[in-house]
Amino acid sequence: MKATDSIDIASLVRPDRVHHSVYSDPEIFELEMDRLFGRAWLLLGHESQVRKPGDYITTRMGREPVIVTRDSSNKVQVLINRCTHRGAMLCHEPRGSVKQFVCPYHGWGFDTDGSLKVAPTPQGYGADPKKVFADLGLARVPRVESYRGFVFASLADTGPSLKDFLGHLATSFDDLVDRAPDGEVEIAGGVFKHVYDGNWKLMLENHLDGVHPNYVHISSVAAAREAPDPVQPEKYADISVRQMRQNGAPEPVWEAIGMWTTDWGHGYMGDYHNDSRLVVGLKNPVFDDYRVRLEKRTGKDEANRILGVTRWNSIVYPNVSFMSQFRQLRIVHPLAVNKTVVYTYNLRLKGAPEQMFRDTVAFSNVVNGTGSWVLTDDLEVYGRTQRGLTAKQPEWVNLARGVGGDVPDEHGTLRGATGTSEIFIRRQFGAWLKYMTETGN
Ligand code: FES
Ligand SMILES: [Fe+2]
Repeated sequence: MKATDSIDIASLVRPDRVHHSVYSDPEIFELEMDRLFGRAWLLLGHESQVRKPGDYITTRMGREPVIVTRDSSNKVQVLINRCTHRGAMLCHEPRGSVKQFVCPYHGWGFDTDGSLKVAPTPQGYGADPKKVFADLGLARVPRVESYRGFVFASLADTGPSLKDFLGHLATSFDDLVDRAPDGEVEIAGGVFKHVYDGNWKLMLENHLDGVHPNYVHISSVAAAREAPDPVQPEKYADISVRQMRQNGAPEPVWEAIGMWTTDWGHGYMGDYHNDSRLVVGLKNPVFDDYRVRLEKRTGKDEANRILGVTRWNSIVYPNVSFMSQFRQLRIVHPLAVNKTVVYTYNLRLKGAPEQMFRDTVAFSNVVNGTGSWVLTDDLEVYGRTQRGLTAKQPEWVNLARGVGGDVPDEHGTLRGATGTSEIFIRRQFGAWLKYMTETGN
């Protein structure tokens, strides 16, 4: 019997609290890798990363190392990155382009659809080596689907369709992609990876948390308040000043934002800003140029509708945080109960002025880079939280803010009573419980 068999998972989650062991118990972490990351739709990347046959990226699905590639029939495949001979990891590079994946150990060569093409000394495999090799293709991840160019996969044979899984949260991807004058986005540049000493859930519980900026990020808020006011046209550093000041918005502003959540644990922060306060927008010549390009595709009314959406971070549970305003994508990969790596990408709106991508990179440096004034604060507090959560007392973690005030709305979502409600974390744990307690797929 495994130790986890004796844990009553359902008893760890209550309407307004969770047991601290869900963040700190290695046995529970192992179970999460099987039941949650082994089943859920996970976002792996974007089709622009595997534009032509043979292109690939390597990433992870929970514990499984995977290769996302485009095969010769133009189909996106997700293959387990393990040679079927004696198990070597086949592909070590983060991205590239190949005709075949050739194992570094004994030279077995696999097609981009995973089938085994060549193996040295075939005579050692009996009278009909081809027949033997036919069964030795790379393991394929069973379900792969894209939404608006974003590639998702699930390690489970069955489960909800990607459409049902995303539900109303799909509109956050629409918000992002619709903004592109050419109607498409792409991942541009490489990947920035950072590791933090904490459980994977801590990041997803942070990105819609409107209370923490005035505490965790207060030193950068103070510095930004002392900086000169941004003037149009904005310079690179002005992005930082705006964002830092926004983090220091008074409590009523955070209370007034929208907090929407869905059944599978997704959520987004809406009504967070207006263009004049945050986005390089009004009275900016680059933005004016961008608007003209967008209107060319969509017409004026549709452009107004698209640009009128004021969402900030969206979370797709259990592994994604992204946002359209500055085109950021962050993918969470659990490494251990107390260690997580986050892959960060910049997205380009195709057809938009190049300056807007520079703004994306500037914002990324402010929020996600190694020298970021924001990320470093959050990583420090994740580490401290993890250290706190390993203490056995008190047993419970409190998630009561806004409990009882949730409001259903027309999208089939539940809204928090206020923008600072912890509803999004409670909903994440609702999904967690579902994955963790259902047996089979
Ligand atoms: S382990 Fe890959 S060819 Fe031997
Ligand atoms: Fe933060």
